[in-house]
Parts: sequence; C-alpha cells; structure tokens
Amino acid sequence: MEHYGESLFVRDDQESRRLKVLCDVFDPLATTTLDRLGVRPDARCLEVGAGTGSIARWLAQRAVDGEVVATDIDTSGLRGLPEDNITVLRHDVTSGEFPESSFDVIHARLVLSHLPERDEVLRRMRSWLAPGGFVLIESFCWFPIDSSPHPVYRQVLRRWSDLIRRSLGTDSWWARTHPGSFAKLGFSEVGANTVTQNLRGGTPLADFWRLTITMSHDQLIGKGYLTEAELSAAYLLLEDPDFWDLSPALVQAWGHKEQPLAAGPLETTPAAQH
Ligand SMILES: C[S@@+](CC[C@H](N)C(=O)[O-])C[C@H]1O[C@@H](n2cnc3c(N)ncnc32)[C@H](O)[C@@H]1O
Repeated sequence: MEHYGESLFVRDDQESRRLKVLCDVFDPLATTTLDRLGVRPDARCLEVGAGTGSIARWLAQRAVDGEVVATDIDTSGLRGLPEDNITVLRHDVTSGEFPESSFDVIHARLVLSHLPERDEVLRRMRSWLAPGGFVLIESFCWFPIDSSPHPVYRQVLRRWSDLIRRSLGTDSWWARTHPGSFAKLGFSEVGANTVTQNLRGGTPLADFWRLTITMSHDQLIGKGYLTEAELSAAYLLLEDPDFWDLSPALVQAWGHKEQPLAAGPLETTPAAQH
C-alpha cells in the first residue's frame, strides 16, 4: 500500500488544475450544506485536506469573528490564502492531533474515503469538536457507475477505482453506509444527503472525471487494468456533448457533538435516522 500523493494524485500542474475544476463544480454543494448546518460568525473551523483552500476561504468569510485552520499533507495549494483568520498547517489527519473541543465546524471533502483509517479518523474528529459543533464529510459513491448502460464508461471508472483501492486503500462504496459510522461513534443529529448528478460530455463535471482518469493513464495501462483503446474511448465519451450518464454520487454526511448550537439541522434521510 502506498500513501496519497506518492504515485497517485501527485500534486503537479495537472493535479492542481483538476482540483480547481473540482472546486468549481462541487463547492456550491458543500457551501449550501454548510450554510444549512450553520457556521456562526465566531465559529472555529477546521478544513481537513484543504486542497486549494476554496472552502477554507469560504469558511473564513462566514466565520468573520472566528478562525479557520486549513490542513493538508501537501500545503502547496494553500499559499494564496488570506492570512487574517486562516492558519495553514501541514498536518496528517491519520496521525496529527488537536486538543479536545478545539473546533465548532470540521469539514473534509474527498479525503476520508482515501484513508483506510477513516472510522478512527472520524472518532478523533469528534473529540476535536466542542459541544454543539458538527463534522461534515463528503465522499463519492460509485453506485451510479455500477448501473451505467455504457460499458466503456462503466469499465473505465470501475477499473480506476480498483487501482486506487489496491494502491491506497480507497473505498468508493463506503460513503453509502458511512452515516451509520457517525451514529456508532456517538454523534447526535446525524444526517445525510446524496447528490446524483447527470453527467454530459464536455461539461466541467465530465472534464473533472476525464482529468481524474487521465492522471492515472500510465498506471492503468502499465498495471494491466485497462487498454489504450478503452481509455481513448472513455475520453471521447467524456468530451462528447451527446454522451449522457450519471457521475459518481456525492454523499454528504454529518453529525453533531451533543445538541446543535446554531441553525437547525437538515432533515435526515430515512437511512440516516437513528
Ligand atoms: C481529492 S483532494 C480534495 C481537496 C479538497 N478537500 C477539495 O475537496 O477541494 C484530497 C486532499 O486530501 C489531502 N490528503 C490526503 N491524505 C491526507 C491526510 N492523511 N491528511 C490530510 N490531508 C490529506 C490531499 O493532499 C488533497 O489535498
């Protein structure tokens, strides 16, 4: 098993561009849910695996009298963040600690599903929360791929997820059930929301997935997961405006430590109620 960023998701220009597209496409979903959960002006916020820092910046604008700690194992994308109420920290969430009750808001997008220690990380995040605070975790879930009517698209995304599972320990299906982990770990007011997006070739969403697969092109071929022909066919589909399918779904799951202090929580889905 290797570490994130070692040979997959290496932070080069192409990965920086992919992360930028990720933010353009997915930030509105994150910020809508953060707003509905309630970020108070004096909130102390932790953005884990902050990437390019777009959500850290947004949190800093909401928590004007509070503070934001933006962490990552690679902080190169966080250089341009305003310094006023944002602290950038090189920090590995699988081993680094924070004192108990340090934060009111903790957010991590597309980080925990890559970490084999994900449930233990969530347990430690709960201890970092102050009473009333919440954790919001966002992760992709592969179920729309399993039912895709397009064999090439289905095969390429599945084989890519096999590559990252075997190399990093990424679980592309964990998100489907992980609201249950919040409940088991003692969070209250647990909730979840799953967004399934229609994917059309040539759109920013399709571009994000094309860039994601391209990043692993050589490994996918070199390790025998896919052929050059299969990959070329998938890239063509993802650029074709006549191609319509569903992208991997985004699962947002959250839980509070004791009772929420701020705005009321979102309605919970039946699967997430406890
Ligand atoms: C797919 S990117 C998502 C970036 C950002 N969360 C976003 O959604 O825009 C995953 C991020 O998690 C970071 N990361 C991976 N493993 C980590 C760890 N153990 N501790 C902290 N950050 C980590 C990576 O460096 C990368 O910036």
